[in-house]
Amino acid sequence: MRVLVTGGAGFLGSHTVSVLLDAGHDVLVLDSPVSSTIVPLERVAELAGVTFGGPRLRFHRADVREPVSYREAVLEFGPDAVVHFAGLKSPTESLADPASYYMVNVAGTAAVAQVANAAGVRAFLFSSSATVYGDEAPVPVGEDAAVAPVTPYGHSKLMAEQVLRDMHEAERRMGVAVLRYFNPVGAHPSGRLGEDPQGVPANLMPFVARVAGGRYEKLNVFGADFATRDGSAVRDFIHVMDLAEAHVATLEWMVARPGEEVGVRVWNIGRGEGVTVFEMIQAFERVTGRPVPFQVVERRPGDIAASCASVDAIAETVGWRACRDTDAMVRDLWAWQQANPSGYAGDSH
Ligand code: UD1
Repeated sequence: MRVLVTGGAGFLGSHTVSVLLDAGHDVLVLDSPVSSTIVPLERVAELAGVTFGGPRLRFHRADVREPVSYREAVLEFGPDAVVHFAGLKSPTESLADPASYYMVNVAGTAAVAQVANAAGVRAFLFSSSATVYGDEAPVPVGEDAAVAPVTPYGHSKLMAEQVLRDMHEAERRMGVAVLRYFNPVGAHPSGRLGEDPQGVPANLMPFVARVAGGRYEKLNVFGADFATRDGSAVRDFIHVMDLAEAHVATLEWMVARPGEEVGVRVWNIGRGEGVTVFEMIQAFERVTGRPVPFQVVERRPGDIAASCASVDAIAETVGWRACRDTDAMVRDLWAWQQANPSGYAGDSH
């Protein structure tokens, strides 16, 4: 199949493009003129044995908010399916700059979906987040739980979901899958692709990897007084390769049936297993043999004690289930960190 991937140069996007190419699909990546480097895509091409910019992996630089800048390229490519990753992703940043979050995540999604519709796309997969469930979500949380986002980022994801519901009502040929991610971590097993946060990482595992690699002295553990088994917060960490495979499995399931039958599906993407922050640190030390010095500090404002997905819905329908454990997440993250201590900046672009 032919797949348009917006945000395909990002962390989740690059791994998904890699798995799509390995499965024999052709890809057009649309990525931003500002935030993205093409190095991950050059590496994706090299891993798949295809030419970057060639027929199997095309690339178009454009801002999702400006459909005139990519409409022609998309129509010419003629995608069967779209995976829409492009978006802003920091809950904290969204509190300071909500307008940008609504413009990129909501208006940008509407623009991409409109172009997809014009191109006759039958399967539209949207990158959403467990953040839409808010602070009071049950553990584990099912897809039918109440939604109650607490940041502009969370609201923007939920609003984008609604945009796609409405667009499906207007044009039922385009089936929609909304994937709500829990905590994606890890890296491609080759050590060539991984997460490359700019500046100080806000998320746990990239920070842990940099402490183990010697770039930072110690980790701050945000709170050890939660009502959990060891006092630290519980999250549903999922290997990024599992997440990438979930996308390919979902797309293949979607294009095999009419959009009317697909409708609008909402699925959690996690492992369905809660792991604490301390357990992740211990796994990292055990698997890598490196110490991860840490100190417990105050809770981070807005953090919840526990988050964990119910994952049966997508397994029952699509047949996908995460298969990599915590050790695999740590092993692959560490291989990436060791081979790329400065992320992609070591390459010449
Ligand atoms: C955060 C976002 C979420 C986003 C997700 C993936 C918030 C409130 N939520 O989730 O919307 O989808 O990232 O990008 O920001 N921790 C430490 N020390 C650190 C970093 C994190 O102890 O240096 C702890 C956190 O307090 C949390 C756990 O590790 O308990 C996981 O944190 P993180 O990786 O930032 O993910 P979330 O907060 O779950």
